[in-house]
Amino acid sequence: MINDLINIAKEAGEIINEGFGKARKVEFKTNETNLVTEIDKAAEKLITDFIKKKFPSHGILAEESGEMKSGADYLWVIDPLDGTTNFAHGLPVFSVSIALQKNDVTIAGVVYDVINKIAYSTEKGSGAFANDAKMNVSKNDILRRSVLASGFPYNVIENPDNLLEKFTEMTKLVRGIRRLGSAAMDLAYTAKGVFDGYWELNLNPWDICAGMLLVEEAGGVVSDFYNNPIDMHAKRILATNGQVHQKMMEILTKDY
Ligand code: IPD
Ligand code: CA
Ligand code: CA
Repeated sequence: MINDLINIAKEAGEIINEGFGKARKVEFKTNETNLVTEIDKAAEKLITDFIKKKFPSHGILAEESGEMKSGADYLWVIDPLDGTTNFAHGLPVFSVSIALQKNDVTIAGVVYDVINKIAYSTEKGSGAFANDAKMNVSKNDILRRSVLASGFPYNVIENPDNLLEKFTEMTKLVRGIRRLGSAAMDLAYTAKGVFDGYWELNLNPWDICAGMLLVEEAGGVVSDFYNNPIDMHAKRILATNGQVHQKMMEILTKDY
């Protein structure tokens, strides 16, 4: 099955690559910061058409078209283009994220880095890979030497959580923080040991489902900000190499 995920993610990547850098019809979703292009929709259609044809009994949860066949044993969780703002503005950082769940447990995932042509893939219990190379999270346990990633939800302005304060605080304590604009890539890079940790609020299942399994299978830890286990519906995610998890939690849960 993992080859199906990888191959269809790569095919979707071709549509995205073909459309990158060309003038796009951009529509607003919830507000002017939340965008969708016809490429998001075309990539998603390619993936969902493939699933409907090859696995007609499987359910689908896809960002642009919602849920189909809810209650099925297998569920495909799809973000056809994670990093749409980057894509629409010509910044070459975006991915295709596809996960497969069986009875609510994620059993496989792929995050395809379209520009660099790297498929970050995993099957539960079998490790995580960047193309054919096995991935491991970083070993660093010193926050001051950490490079972290984070992001902001589209409603950051109305967001009641003191997100920007936490970002400011964390910035003062680490080597650097990056805001890539693709949650799936943030998680893939955490799995790869590029980032020591990553946190974000108010994401959706399709942003994190594949990436969460990548981090776990690369030896990392994924939880909420209080070390509770989370599923893809979680509204707060902390994914780290395990070594800086506690230290990051202390900052993320501190009151202001
Ligand atoms: C977005 C990206 C971004 C995150 C946003 C997501 P989209 O997904 O993952 O990094 O900060 O919250 O919505 O809209 O580009 O698929
Ligand atoms: Ca997304
Ligand atoms: Ca998307």
